Amino acid sequence: MDIAILGTGRVGGKLGPRWAGKGHRIVYGAPEVDCAEVRKVLEESGPNAAAASVREAAAASQVILLAIPWNVTRGVIESLGALEGKTLLDCINPIKPDFSGLSPDAAPSTAEEIAVWAPGAKVVKAFNTVSDATMGNPRYGGQKASMFFCGDDEGAKQIVRQLTDDLDMEPVDAGPLKNACYLESLGMLYIHLAIFGGWGGECAFRLVKR
Ligand SMILES: NC(=O)c1ccc[n+]([C@@H]2O[C@H](COP(=O)([O-])OP(=O)(O)OC[C@H]3O[C@@H](n4cnc5c(N)ncnc54)[C@H](OP(=O)(O)O)[C@@H]3O)[C@@H](O)[C@H]2O)c1
Repeated sequence: MDIAILGTGRVGGKLGPRWAGKGHRIVYGAPEVDCAEVRKVLEESGPNAAAASVREAAAASQVILLAIPWNVTRGVIESLGALEGKTLLDCINPIKPDFSGLSPDAAPSTAEEIAVWAPGAKVVKAFNTVSDATMGNPRYGGQKASMFFCGDDEGAKQIVRQLTDDLDMEPVDAGPLKNACYLESLGMLYIHLAIFGGWGGECAFRLVKR
């Protein structure tokens, strides 16, 4: 599938090359295309990837991953033009700068805010409860990391299931988009454990069942 990845930092730089390696066509959207960060991610992605302005990348793709900080998200979305019918993947954790909690300006959730700013887009909350290290390598011994996602459009959720399988993670459907607040709290818990609990980024949530 054609995927725009807006942001070429830790998340975009991990997910993009892995999806490109699975045969997806990636267009990285960046404010500055000719820079070291973009050149590095293009090199790691191989022939299935290109870079363009943020607006051009989004226009060229039916699936758009927002791999950008929360504080620029509204401005970026409003610069993209019409997003009707597109699948918008929100992996954002709206954390306070000191990592002490979720930002109060993201209530009830970033995903629901984004759905308001991008009318007609199919928003899915996904990939926010896994670290960039796990995005690069989701295997823990014989087990896969779980990847929780939620949204209101079944077709868009099917796309996320496929993209999660392609990463070798286990997709876990967490229900409708109104459950994004739970995933954002889970993302916050992960960050707390990683930073203040001594777990670091090489750990992941796994839902077990019997
Ligand atoms: N890191 C993780 O483990 C992790 C895990 C799950 C979710 N997340 C979430 O994923 C998102 C990205 O995190 P990250 O760790 O990848 O951050 P990062 O390494 O700081 O990368 C952020 C990227 O966003 C770009 N960017 C910033 N402002 C922009 C704008 N106005 N227009 C277009 N691009 C812009 C940056 O480009 P420049 O470098 O040119 O500024 C950079 O490529 C965040 O919302 C975070 O909460 C992160």
